[in-house]
Amino acid sequence: MLIAPTQNSLDYIRKRAENRVVRLLDTTLRDGEQMPGISLTVHQKIEIALALNELGVDSIEAGFPITSEGEFKAVKMIAKEVRGSEVIALARANKQDIDKVIEAEAPAVHTFIATSDLHMRYKLKMTPDQVIERAVSAVEYAKSHGLVVEFSAEDATRSDVQFLAKVFQAVVDAGADRIDIADTVGVAYPSYMAFLVSYIRSNVKGNYILSVHCHDDFGMAVANSVTAIENGADQVHVTMLGVGERAGNAALEEVASALAFLYGYKLRIDFSKINKVAKIVANHFGLVIPPNKAIVGANAFAHESGIHVHGVLSHPLTYEPIDPSAVGAERRIVIGKHSGRHAIEYVIKQMGLEPREDAVKRILDRVKSLADQGVKISWDTVIKLVKEEYGV
Ligand code: KIV
Ligand code: ZN
Repeated sequence: MLIAPTQNSLDYIRKRAENRVVRLLDTTLRDGEQMPGISLTVHQKIEIALALNELGVDSIEAGFPITSEGEFKAVKMIAKEVRGSEVIALARANKQDIDKVIEAEAPAVHTFIATSDLHMRYKLKMTPDQVIERAVSAVEYAKSHGLVVEFSAEDATRSDVQFLAKVFQAVVDAGADRIDIADTVGVAYPSYMAFLVSYIRSNVKGNYILSVHCHDDFGMAVANSVTAIENGADQVHVTMLGVGERAGNAALEEVASALAFLYGYKLRIDFSKINKVAKIVANHFGLVIPPNKAIVGANAFAHESGIHVHGVLSHPLTYEPIDPSAVGAERRIVIGKHSGRHAIEYVIKQMGLEPREDAVKRILDRVKSLADQGVKISWDTVIKLVKEEYGV
């Protein structure tokens, strides 16, 4: 039977999550920067890394050092500057790529190789045994250089599950600290992710952190990430605003907020900084944050319709899931065609005046008439209307 999330059922979910700490690996600077058309300067990457560090993500994937001289420089500088979050850098499962990570002095490497038949046959042109051998050698090599090692199975969600478990077991036995299920083309859906995470947990023995990396090709990245945690994963890969290859990755602000505020997991995130960091990333990526974006969009805590404004002004939780200040946002009352008298009274009171029934009605009529003509009602317009009505 489905249970609607009443206060009681949310408490039940939160009880199950109690005391479980979830790790966030932010890959805004690596997978995020792979967003078509994006290229950040070293200075921009450092500024974003410092903001992510302040936000409290556990790991910052700073880049892919073998890619270019600038990328190498950025990773090296981020590894030097950032204190708090772990700095990790990407490397294919080969010595040359891992050497670049070592040279950049990053303390952790994220090494990967594909495990699906499709990738092994057409891209890698390697047999499954060769893939295992390559993965194990890469992990052993990185461990012998003292790195923390996270191993990703690329295209894991389209891989044979028994083979996937075999690869993961081999790399864990070789010393990998973390293993990651990559949903490279975003084809997983929550029930499959639940199965896959449970399967890997039960079939791969050892002391490792289990992670997922979800792409958003079908708009499932956040749901899949949260489901993975519910089913035993310890870590999720995220990017601020969901930036990334194609349709992007699981959005940090959505995954983190859902895990903390809906489920009650513990995260190291300082949520009061999340809106500020989203703006820094949007600015450097040259993006406009969609107004209806969860948690960080301009409308995430904005209200216009009469019923909602009345509710929110009586008790904010009637039409808000959380206090906006918890995520560094502000409540906005927007005046427009859908407004009711409570919103006009609110503006009048904000101006230090006493709302009068006849005046409120006249102002509201004028607002609606302007809105019907297609005029966008700004806060200043309403103030002007109030001033005219009150003669102040
Ligand atoms: O999507 C993906 O498979 C990746 C890997 C490098 C983990 O980004
Ligand atoms: Zn990816």
